[in-house]
Amino acid sequence: MYLDRADERILAGEEGETRRKMMEILVALGKVFGAEEMVPIASAQVSGASYKTIGEYGLEWLSGLDARVVVPSVVNPIGMPLDRWREMGISADFAEKQLKVVAAYERLGIKLDCTCTPYYLYTTQYGEHLAWSESSAVSYANSVIGARTNREGGPSALAAAMIGKTPSYGLHLVKNRRPQVVIDVKPGDLEMGIAHYGALGYLVGKKVGNRIPFFRGIRPNRDQLKALGAAMAATGAVALYHVDKITPETRVFPFELSGLETIPVEGSDIRDQFHDIQVEAVAVGCPHCSPEELERIAQLLTGKSVKLPFYVFAAKGVMEKNQPLVAIIEKSGARVYADTCMVVSPGLEKFKGIMVNSGKALAYVPDMCGAPARIGTLEECVAVATGQA
Ligand code: F3S
Repeated sequence: MYLDRADERILAGEEGETRRKMMEILVALGKVFGAEEMVPIASAQVSGASYKTIGEYGLEWLSGLDARVVVPSVVNPIGMPLDRWREMGISADFAEKQLKVVAAYERLGIKLDCTCTPYYLYTTQYGEHLAWSESSAVSYANSVIGARTNREGGPSALAAAMIGKTPSYGLHLVKNRRPQVVIDVKPGDLEMGIAHYGALGYLVGKKVGNRIPFFRGIRPNRDQLKALGAAMAATGAVALYHVDKITPETRVFPFELSGLETIPVEGSDIRDQFHDIQVEAVAVGCPHCSPEELERIAQLLTGKSVKLPFYVFAAKGVMEKNQPLVAIIEKSGARVYADTCMVVSPGLEKFKGIMVNSGKALAYVPDMCGAPARIGTLEECVAVATGQA
């Protein structure tokens, strides 16, 4: 892999031990994946921020780093809301460790937005190279925005953030962004909402693994695309997908589909993902809510009170710009939390059944919270939480 003189100097340790180590990570990745060069990145999004997932080892590694990021960089959700962790039932012991992780990231110059939806806070452009690591954010950046990022691990995203470049391989190269499998969806009379797209992604992710799917027969909006991509990245390893005439690259590149495997999906296959279980809590906002989702939740909860714990997760910046909606939601007894989510926080581990409106949460809640999960539409989630179902 070609390195310029500045890269060589970093690799020789002339800019300190941390930057040398970070360059070593990038060079090793470049060699393994056959990159010919490095490309400058516009931003980084670093996962591995909840103490629940990185533990003592991760905290130690982060604390030992001594350099700052050189491109705008945000961190993934952490294990608790920074200012309301007591209210969420987080133990003081966990909070102490989580705050150390946060302090370690802050020292490296990373913005503490703690979100998997950085695209709501910072403009990300078509064709930009990025080093993002949270799988739903990666999927959204590649597929919905048309930016270019591989699915980085936490350390490689951090390395790219500190060097400002990433090795150019995989999804950074146009030739690797072509569809590899066609998904023919026939929803029939099923009215496809966000949860249905999550269930579709849950189903398709299991079938396609890490291939790039090309969807026909659907017309999702941006929130529905977010749900679809997040679920496919959870049950499969899909980092990029295309939707005919909807996602940007289908309008730019003449994709050749002949000869590709075609997988049919019927409305009944999607409906089959909706099971009933005993629910003790409801959690929405996986990935973190958009302003439109907050608005819909507020509409549904206006004048009602929740009988079950009802959690809504969103980026702090999105909450701050939509305070009236947050106030309406919280008036019902529901809670809107920033910085964290139902999967990476230990706060929901006390429940024995959790209802979600997300295919990704449906995939992760059982392992991460130790509780069975049920997927339902937002309307069904509100009906269950308010005792109307
Ligand atoms: Fe985001 Fe947590 Fe879901 S990080 S995508 S809300 S599992």
